[in-house]
Amino acid sequence: MTVTEVGTMRAIQVSRFGGPEALKLAELPDPVPGPGQLLIQVTGAGVNFADTSRVAGSYQPAPALPFVPGTEVVGTTADGRRVLALNFAGGGYAERAVVDAATTVEVPAQVGDATALALLVQGLTAWHVLRGSARLRDGETVVIGAAAGGVGSLAVRLARHFGAGLVIAAASTPEKREKALRLGADVALDSAPDGFAERVRDATGGRGADVVLESTGGAAFTAGLDALAPFGRLVTFGNASRQGRPPVDPGELSDRNLAVAGFWLRPVVTLPGHFREPLTELFALAVDGRLTLPPGPAYPLDEAHRAHRDLIGRRTTGKVILRP
Ligand SMILES: NC(=O)c1ccc[n+]([C@@H]2O[C@H](COP(=O)([O-])OP(=O)(O)OC[C@H]3O[C@@H](n4cnc5c(N)ncnc54)[C@H](OP(=O)(O)O)[C@@H]3O)[C@@H](O)[C@H]2O)c1
Repeated sequence: MTVTEVGTMRAIQVSRFGGPEALKLAELPDPVPGPGQLLIQVTGAGVNFADTSRVAGSYQPAPALPFVPGTEVVGTTADGRRVLALNFAGGGYAERAVVDAATTVEVPAQVGDATALALLVQGLTAWHVLRGSARLRDGETVVIGAAAGGVGSLAVRLARHFGAGLVIAAASTPEKREKALRLGADVALDSAPDGFAERVRDATGGRGADVVLESTGGAAFTAGLDALAPFGRLVTFGNASRQGRPPVDPGELSDRNLAVAGFWLRPVVTLPGHFREPLTELFALAVDGRLTLPPGPAYPLDEAHRAHRDLIGRRTTGKVILRP
């Protein structure tokens, strides 16, 4: 382990937008908490797909250069509490981070760092998408795209917990589909857009899906819409393909009795009841064993570039974390 000078810390800094090579190890002054903020000694930093867009400069709002990426950390406060914190201002890929007390929660002792980080951006997203956007009802059929990924893994587990009748996982490789089945999906399908709607109809007796969770964009969005049953809802919450989301024809929606909902976590966490309460529910499920997750990959801080490369290259499953 590298020793840093007193008052400084090791962190990953981005000085120009680019690919994973833009993530550089730097020695920076310790951050100083302002009013309503806490200084955290970071034991784990979560990596999210959106971080790759922030580094590329394609995320809106774009961070001001230079910046330290990382919107979620787990660690200890000056008074010794073990906490999980969400901070859309960034600063998480570091040995120490400043976070807002309002979006910081204590972590139950039984919940490990990697699980806690998985439950934050990805867990909250899966929770809100299923509960709030899709309004999943008992017995319904749900298709989960990128089902072996961070949000996808949580969505497979939560869809089951929320009473889905049939959980259909979609993923790009046999290994990922195998993983989704181990997580509890009933069926796992190839997510390639070509023939996707037919595969979903085959798996649902010709009916299609009540709910499709879609985070790939491009042709996968269109294929997801085609896979819906009457009164089906597609929730769009990502664009991992970077192909954008095609325009939706309202006439087609009404002809087929469909709905398209969008979801973005950032403005949601400040709404009353939308942050601490679902997170408390997710912690409780993790503590009693109903939301156990196989560990995802953990990288040392100075290999943040490799974590991003693997995420963009679709080589990861589950929650990706950095260990400062
Ligand atoms: N709206 C929000 O507030 C919100 C919050 C969190 C996450 N998200 C979005 O949800 C999605 C999942 O996020 P995550 O952090 O959990 O990531 P992740 O699912 O762990 O990784 C992204 C996955 O997207 C799939 N993918 C499809 N096309 C891809 C491409 N061209 N390049 C890379 N990956 C591709 C891959 O799964 P397959 O190989 O199986 O296709 C890949 O594993 C992302 O699109 C993210 O931006 C949105």
